[in-house]
Amino acid sequence: MDNNTLRKIAQQHRQPHGEHGIEVAERMNVSNELMNRWAIEELTIQPNDRILEIGPGNGLFVPSIINSATSVTYTGYDHAELMVNQARHLNSLLVETGQARFVLRDGPTMPFADNSFSRAFAVNVIYFWENPITELAELHRVLDSSGILELVFRPRSIMVNIPHVAYGFQTFESEDVHKLLEANHFEVMSTSTKDEPPQQINGQMLSLVTVLVTSRPV
Ligand SMILES: C[S@@+](CC[C@H](N)C(=O)[O-])C[C@H]1O[C@@H](n2cnc3c(N)ncnc32)[C@H](O)[C@@H]1O
Repeated sequence: MDNNTLRKIAQQHRQPHGEHGIEVAERMNVSNELMNRWAIEELTIQPNDRILEIGPGNGLFVPSIINSATSVTYTGYDHAELMVNQARHLNSLLVETGQARFVLRDGPTMPFADNSFSRAFAVNVIYFWENPITELAELHRVLDSSGILELVFRPRSIMVNIPHVAYGFQTFESEDVHKLLEANHFEVMSTSTKDEPPQQINGQMLSLVTVLVTSRPV
């Protein structure tokens, strides 16, 4: 694949857009399904939880979140207008009943009041954080004091094998994420790593691994 194609793939992953954006999001749903299902399971959602997800893409997994316990509410916060529109469309019934809402990101601060959420999570989004300190400060502010933050990502050792990652992704090992959290008023509660079946990415079969870090504001 040439550099221009790889750059375009990276841009679509960062912010799906235009005529190929819907298709890219659908492909991510397939390639990231195990990560997302694991992330939801490990959130251990309780009745009345108020969930914030950063970067849900087209929101395909939102019904599983809402159905994890009674009276759960969900907010998806994404900077891609196409994804917010798709997520609203795919989850129209949940939006109508007020169980889910999708908010378009428009700047570094989050348009949510302090202590709005009991759980926050992001799957495959940390690579795109331009300013992790601001992101974590905002997450700290909008989570309540007994809240939980879960970050789910593929580690650098795996990401370096994916050609489009060279075009603007930041990559992390678990220890990097621990340091980032601890420097920004989060305490790491647990870290788990899971092997995934190999997948074909950009024409190559690659072994994949997911890291899931759970933390709490301190
Ligand atoms: C690689 S996709 C991952 C989608 C889904 N979470 C998954 O694991 O399949 C990244 C998603 O996060 C959104 N995104 C990237 N950076 C973001 C940011 N800083 N704030 C909000 N959304 C972001 C993108 O628009 C896109 O929908």
